[in-house]
Formats: sequence, C-alpha cells, structure tokens
Amino acid sequence: TRGPLVDRFGRVHRDLRISLTDRCSLRCQYCMPAEGVPWLAKDNILTTDELERVARVAASLGITEVRLTGGEPLIRRDVVDVVRRMAAIEGPDGPLEVSMTTNGLKLPELAPALAEAGLTRVNISIDTLKPERFAELTRRDRLDDVLAGIDAARAAGFSPVKLNAVAMRGVNDDELVDLVRYAVSIGAEMRFIEQMPLDAGHIWSRVEMVRGEEILEHLAEAFTLTPVGQRGAAPAERFLVDDGPATVGVIASVTAPFCGACDRVRLTADGQLRNCLFARTEDDLLPLLRGDGDGNGIGTDDDLAAVFVRSIGAKLAGHGIDDEGFLQPDRPMSAIGG
Ligand code: GTP
Ligand code: 5AD
Ligand code: SF4
Repeated sequence: TRGPLVDRFGRVHRDLRISLTDRCSLRCQYCMPAEGVPWLAKDNILTTDELERVARVAASLGITEVRLTGGEPLIRRDVVDVVRRMAAIEGPDGPLEVSMTTNGLKLPELAPALAEAGLTRVNISIDTLKPERFAELTRRDRLDDVLAGIDAARAAGFSPVKLNAVAMRGVNDDELVDLVRYAVSIGAEMRFIEQMPLDAGHIWSRVEMVRGEEILEHLAEAFTLTPVGQRGAAPAERFLVDDGPATVGVIASVTAPFCGACDRVRLTADGQLRNCLFARTEDDLLPLLRGDGDGNGIGTDDDLAAVFVRSIGAKLAGHGIDDEGFLQPDRPMSAIGG
C-alpha cells in the first residue's frame, strides 16, 4: 500500500467522490439552466474499467469510501456494474464502502439490483413535497417518481436513507417543518443545505441564502432539537427531533464550513481529480489512463498515485467563499457532483 493521503494541513483523505456522468434527468433551477449545459465530450467519459482502476489506486492510498454522484449517477447505463466493481475493491479496512447521491427517479427500477451489487447508503434530493412547486423547481413534473424512489430505497434496505433539500428563500423555506415530518414518518434523515455558489447560472446571492441558523430557528418552532454526536468529517450537524430516534441535519457549508475536517477528493466523469468542491485547478488522469491512443505513455499505478499525492498536496485550507476576489469554479455543480 501507499498513502495515506495527508495534505499540508494534516487532513487525511479517506473519501473519494466519483461523478459518473454530468447529465441529469432533472433541471433544478439552482443547478442547471433549462437547456442544460455544454456536456462533457463522450469520448472523455471514463470507462468502467478506468473507474475501477482509479478507485483501486485510491484504495491503496487510504481511501475507504466511494460516493457515486453525477449529474445523476443512475442514468449511467452500467451503474449497477460500477457499484459491484467498486464494492469488490479492498481498501485499508476491508472492501470499499459504496454510497450514492441521487435524484431518486430511477430507484424504483434499480434499488434492488444496486443493493445486491453492494451499495449500502443513498442520499436522495427532495426540495419540496408540493407537486407544482417540484415541477417548477426541477422543470419536470416528477415528484411522485421521487417519492416512489424513496420508498424503493427503504424497501431495498439502504440504511440510513438521507434526504437532501437545498433551503431556498421564497421557494421552499415555508416547508422545512413539513419535510422533517415526512422524513420522520418514513424513518429517513432530513438534511437542509445552505445554497452554495455553484450554479451554472451564477444566481447565488449571499443575501438571499437561507442560513443554517435560520433553518434551525424555523425547526425549533415545531420541534425540540438536541445536538447529537461528534460531527467528525461529516458536513451535517445533526440533531435529535423531539425525543428521537429521528434526526435532522443542517449542512451549513457557507456560514459554518467544515473544511478544517475535510477528508474528500473528487473525480469528475472525465477523469479530472479535484481536491476541493471549489478548486480552481484540476489534475488530469486521462493521459495516464489512455496514453497517446497507440498504447504509448500509459501510466503505471504508481504514476496515478503520484497524481493523487500531487493533487492533495496542493489543496487549500478552505473554500474561500468569504475571500476577496472569490471566483466560483468554472465547472458547474452538475459536472462536479456536489
Ligand atoms: P454523507 O457522507 O452521507 O453525510 O454525505 P454528504 O452529505 O457528504 O453528501 P451529499 O452528496 O448528500 O451532499 C450533501 C450536500 O453536502 C451537498 O450540497 C453537497 O454539495 C455538500 N457537500 C458534499 N461534500 C462537500 C464538501 O466537501 N464540501 C462542501 N462545502 N460541501 C459538500
Ligand atoms: N448548493 C448546495 N447544494 C447543492 N446541490 C446542488 N446544487 C447545490 C448548491 N448550489 C445539492 C443537491 C444534491 C447534492 C448533491 O447537492 O441538491 O442533494
Ligand atoms: Fe473540503 Fe473544499 Fe468542501 Fe471545504 S469546500 S469541505 S475544503 S471540498
């Protein structure tokens, strides 16, 4: 084994987030414009063999967990095979733990096969429980399919099932309590997320953003919230809802960044390593994976590992959203994977 992947600030990296595609079946207003974004070139999308190879090298560097993201990961045709192959890789503490963040639309169809392939946990995005609002926000009238997806995830035995909602002023900030009640009723964990400046349309505004504190104030009107557990490297601050066992989470990436405990590195669908959600630079694995196309210049696993080490070595202390001259990444959220 190589590793561990320690950066200049002593942060040990254990979590690899892999974007399987930049495409999506929804068009959430805070993420993608109606017409979509310029998609990544098909030829540059990593094959499943390539994904497996990178994950294997990552595991040799101390990565213990792989989270599959998108765009929407379930629209990748061989997603079940990807899960199976990731879950078979030996990490430092046994097989890699494989989880996924999804919009849920394809879970009714795929949840049993994903569970069988070794997926253990899913996070599903659901920003509203009102059908018209859902249709407006995502530009697709598919709330029922998401709800069916959540049911399918529970039935397949994923545990925990976490539900993600980006809190948005004037859009869903009147629904926070209802979302918690729904999650509690099905035994899922509701999580509210501060909106980050990552949208392709650059519509983010700090003034409009619903702050974590504000989210908690809303919730405290309806529930007794008791902080639980140590947050560790997890982005969510979690609270017992009333007497539990249900919990709710608040992900306040902007006003209470968890960068100091960050253990994440990202791989985009087109083979770029990103050491931060907000990184301004990427490290390209494609040339090492593919060589010049004639079989020349293909890198060894040590070469790939060296790129991981270089990427983590260049990681900054935090996202810098509050810094003068902050620029949001050129790559849209949908091509980073969240
Ligand atoms: P768990 O490990 O299950 O807690 O997953 P997660 O919350 O890390 O992942 P998920 O994909 O569900 O993301 C939830 C929210 O956290 C999204 O808004 C992500 O963009 C955000 N998020 C995930 N990782 C990071 C990160 O490293 N930095 C920041 N700032 N936000 C992140
Ligand atoms: N800020 C915060 N979270 C976001 N997500 C998408 N765009 C943003 C943003 N600008 C969330 C999605 C999904 C997760 C991967 O990231 O709602 O739950
Ligand atoms: Fe890590 Fe960057 Fe996310 Fe901060 S913003 S937690 S440094 S990926």
